Amino acid sequence: MKKLWGGRFTKTAEEWVDEFGASIPFDQELVMEDITGSIAHVTMLAKTGILTDDEAQQIKKGLEALKEKAANDELEFSVALEDIHLNLESKLTDLVGPVGGKLHTGRSRNDQVATDMHLYLSKQVSDIIELTAELQQALLEQAEKHVETIMPGYTHLQRAQPISFAHHLMAYFWMFERDKQRLTESLKRINISPLGAGALAGTTFPIDRYYSAELLGFDGIYENSMDAVSDRDFILEFLSNSSILMMHLSRFSEEIILWSSQEFRFIDLDDSFSTGSSIMPQKKNPDMAELIRGKTGRVYGNLFGLLTVLKGLPLAYNKDMQEDKEGMFDTVKTVTGSLKIFAGMIRTMKVNTDNMVQATKQDFSNATELADYLSSKGMPFREAHEVVGKLVLHCVEKGCYLSDLSMEEFKNSSPLFENDIYEVLAPETAVARRNSAGGTGFEQIKIALEKAKQCLADK
Ligand code: ARG
Repeated sequence: MKKLWGGRFTKTAEEWVDEFGASIPFDQELVMEDITGSIAHVTMLAKTGILTDDEAQQIKKGLEALKEKAANDELEFSVALEDIHLNLESKLTDLVGPVGGKLHTGRSRNDQVATDMHLYLSKQVSDIIELTAELQQALLEQAEKHVETIMPGYTHLQRAQPISFAHHLMAYFWMFERDKQRLTESLKRINISPLGAGALAGTTFPIDRYYSAELLGFDGIYENSMDAVSDRDFILEFLSNSSILMMHLSRFSEEIILWSSQEFRFIDLDDSFSTGSSIMPQKKNPDMAELIRGKTGRVYGNLFGLLTVLKGLPLAYNKDMQEDKEGMFDTVKTVTGSLKIFAGMIRTMKVNTDNMVQATKQDFSNATELADYLSSKGMPFREAHEVVGKLVLHCVEKGCYLSDLSMEEFKNSSPLFENDIYEVLAPETAVARRNSAGGTGFEQIKIALEKAKQCLADK
């Protein structure tokens, strides 16, 4: 097949070489963005008088026809034409004749491909923000149902202090809020137009970059044409924000996996988000959570892949940069899928409230209550810590828990203990009393839930 850049060449590459160099197998994902970018470009070329209105109209008609075909999945692409840009240009010329060759006036594939990716990420990042909000909504709904569900809170995966399950869920709500903020902030840098930067140095044609940027919905243009065609920071930022988001999903997955194990039995995942074993009939595996934890690795990999591709590149465009796409597409697919699955998993999970509260009764997670009790009666906290530590040791030796001790045993360790100590030791009391701002106390959780609702409503 004749190359669109074939003038300087005396022979063409063999098919297997073309195949190695081609990006069309994956960059066809950008078909709509490429057409949209071209329509804006040709509209600008007419407005500035670089093309006549009639020429621009013919080209636009052809581009609209290609758009329709693309929407119906009717376009077939060729590896010999390398990438989405040359494939579409060739199809355009087939449709409208030689005037199609005027579309590329004042433009290069270097600013074209960058434009496509800015358009693509702008849409995808907005969708991911939306999906993150949906996951937050699912969390909020579960949290509202479980304000009074008591469970052990952990540090070092050892039972630490009793907490409300809603408080645990809401911790993730705020992580996802920050993820959304990061993604939203990044849109400032995504919504900038490289179009019109040309190959690297700008163009001799009297183009209007501001106009094409405006047509495409960008908020501004790259100030420097070399930066415009070389910059892939906006993709790195997306991969980095996605890595942090996936890290949050992965930590949460780990907890879901633990909680649904026979050792914890805190939750039951819905059958529709679990799978069985081909050999062990009793198994119900939290595969979706495991997969999300696993897929986090590929997103990190995509970030490191692109950082590494870019680190040694001289300005401006280098073919290495074609390697920016697959990791970006893969990340969009992975993050989008993971968010959807996670929201479904959270919405449908069954919470075993009895097992949770029971767990808080079979441990020493109320030991801090005793120490706080003594120090609120005037004993220095360090001393109280020591007294309670000895009481815990006494229980361990005796094989009981703090609330099993007699009043006499309490009094023996400190005369400050009174009868109300049993009430203080109850996990519900321990949670209710932690009413410092942002704490797990029921009153605080209610305030937090209101703030969270407001947060979602504000968007
Ligand atoms: N397929 C190329 C890419 O994705 C498009 C830009 C090609 N530019 C060039 N000068 N070869 O990077």
